[in-house]
Amino acid sequence: MPDNCRTVGKNIARIGAVERLQGRPVFSADLSLDDALVLKVLRSGRAHAVVKDIDVGPALAVDGVVRVFTEADIPGENRMGIINRDQPLLADGRVRSSADPVALVAARSEEAAERAVAAIQVTYEDLPAVFTPDEALAPGAPAIHPDGNLLFARRIRRGDVEAAFSRCAVVVERTYRTPFIEHAYLEPDAGAGFVDDDGTLVIYASTQNPHYDLTEVTRLLGVEKWRVRIIQAATGGGFGSKLDLNVQGFIGLALYHLRQPVRMVYSREEAFLATAKRHPLEMHFTTGADEKGRLLATRVLITCNTGAYGSYGIAVTSRSAVHATGPYKIENVEIESRCVYTNHPFCGAMRGFGTPQAAIAHEGQMDLLAQRLGIDPLEIRRINALRTGSVTATGQKLSASVGIGECLQALTPHYDQARRQWRQEPSSPYIRRGVGIGCMWYGIGNTGTKNPATARVAMDREGRVTLFTGCADIGQGSSTVLTQICAEVLGLAPGDIRLVVADTGLTPNAGATSASRQTYISGNAVQTAAAKLAAALLEAAADQLQVPRASLALSNGEVITGAEKTGCVSFARLAQMLHDQGVSLEFEGFFDPPTTALDPATGQGVPYATYAFAGQLALVEVDTLTGEVRVARIVAAHDVGRAIHPENVRGQICGGVAMGLGFALMEQFVPGSTLSLKDYHIPTCADMPEIVPIIVESEEPSGPFGAKGVGEPALIPTAPAILNALADALGKRIDTLPASLESVLETSIATGHFGPREV
Ligand code: MOS
Repeated sequence: MPDNCRTVGKNIARIGAVERLQGRPVFSADLSLDDALVLKVLRSGRAHAVVKDIDVGPALAVDGVVRVFTEADIPGENRMGIINRDQPLLADGRVRSSADPVALVAARSEEAAERAVAAIQVTYEDLPAVFTPDEALAPGAPAIHPDGNLLFARRIRRGDVEAAFSRCAVVVERTYRTPFIEHAYLEPDAGAGFVDDDGTLVIYASTQNPHYDLTEVTRLLGVEKWRVRIIQAATGGGFGSKLDLNVQGFIGLALYHLRQPVRMVYSREEAFLATAKRHPLEMHFTTGADEKGRLLATRVLITCNTGAYGSYGIAVTSRSAVHATGPYKIENVEIESRCVYTNHPFCGAMRGFGTPQAAIAHEGQMDLLAQRLGIDPLEIRRINALRTGSVTATGQKLSASVGIGECLQALTPHYDQARRQWRQEPSSPYIRRGVGIGCMWYGIGNTGTKNPATARVAMDREGRVTLFTGCADIGQGSSTVLTQICAEVLGLAPGDIRLVVADTGLTPNAGATSASRQTYISGNAVQTAAAKLAAALLEAAADQLQVPRASLALSNGEVITGAEKTGCVSFARLAQMLHDQGVSLEFEGFFDPPTTALDPATGQGVPYATYAFAGQLALVEVDTLTGEVRVARIVAAHDVGRAIHPENVRGQICGGVAMGLGFALMEQFVPGSTLSLKDYHIPTCADMPEIVPIIVESEEPSGPFGAKGVGEPALIPTAPAILNALADALGKRIDTLPASLESVLETSIATGHFGPREV
């Protein structure tokens, strides 16, 4: 690709990296506020019950307690939720899961708050509870919400599935299951707040979306938006769970009534118990192909258990349906995904929104078909891969940037070598080895809904540029990437740009740091805003230098004429001149990806403006005596459109592989019992494979400098690749996650692989 960029595509020093190494960023729990009260929540501990009475008297008698809040203290609407508002901040006469908040204590110390929480007397009347979607959908099941337990269904219909199945040479049918998953970010949820001199409630929080927090908090409090200011504190990971309101509403409520500083820090146990989980999915797939391996039809029924509240459940459900074909052409589809309430703690967004689960199913099906047809697993993917001009299951014609073929191409030499060597050379008689491929596609941004971002670029009279963006950098690197885009457009070094981020008092709304959308969507908004400033500077310089505007360029803080630089004028001089003339040098850029709503009956429409693609190759080794699985290597080829910061893309891929490995082999949240990292196992560095990231750049014409995104795609192919490699090693599939030591051992015994191989 021709590259005349100076900053885009370069591994500039990551913004905030040095500060992080020095321990300087201020996380919510570190904020020092004089006389801050401690907030703690009483949670129900009941799966489903009517709240008959709350007696806060004994709690108020605890020394150091300032106030105990219940629903009656909420001045606005006691309802929250980003898509469907079904979740009360404090129990509304009913609790629907054991994690439901019932009362909020403000106290002078941690100990007092804890004692007060324990002293609150609640009288419940238990209701029948349901924990699986089957129970919840059964006739006569207790309704968890007024409209019943089926929250949402996404249906996609195209072609004639029945007729196509009758033409198939082979049809495979399978059920895949995934468990609840905890995000396990480094920093448990936390926030703090105070009332500013002008009466504004200022709330610092560990968040992925300060502007959404503002909407929710002000609605809960029944106040205008300008009365509250949300500032993103340094954030130690989110992965989707920090899209929900966690501490923000409680802090807002306490500030509203008490007008004195407060803080709220979840323990690890509380973060486990009370924040969103990844939805467990049950996925029933029937897929058919002709004798040449061409996919002809798929019928899919997915059921998502969203627990007691919707949170991002509708998004997860919709996305799991849209992505259920995988990155393949299938003309006949009948897909349904349902989102069901149960009395478990709620599920919400987690890296990939249902796509990581769906990928396990569609990739399992590909391997099963390949096996039945005697076609190589890589080859069957190549045969069916989407390409430019392909039409997806929702009827969207892909016009550009379809890099799945290139990803498979990039994997090919690694795959060939792995089949030749790795598989043939186990190190001991008890060891079996396997090779597997996982592929994915991922629509960038929210599904078939508006999800715009605005950014602002301003130049002061000294010629200094400030970029204002609401985009929360939660560790994924968006601040760096957006600065690079801004700097590139203006011909500046990244260090010349001052950055103001994620503060509802200062920055425009960028929407959520979610759905791998910020590089593409905020990136476009920043590019547009910066281009407007560039145009203003060029115009003024053309005037000043008396040359045609087209002959001018921006370079190192100057407007220069041509390559041989026969004249120039500095940004500072132009800025002063324009400011003196009363011309504003503040510009906004706006971008909303062109999508359409999906038809409710057929799912037809344009859910996303662009898609990322990827394929990963896993090399695994199974010890048939112990059931241990070692993932030796992951080769990860990702089409990101254009890597604005290649090293950061590689970092995202490595992080995604770690998360995918945990998903495949060890992670499983069991409500009520896995409440700490002692019981819930995530990969450590000892579990990590060698990772070979390969960046594929199939440029997206509508992206900033051709970029799409990588945040969630990084994780999605890993688990399917590992599961397929395990099946290759054991000769039998594990379709219920995690493929834990016990489950691998069981499979190994069942297939007669237990013990030494025959030699
Ligand atoms: Mo993510 S699940 O979009 O934070």
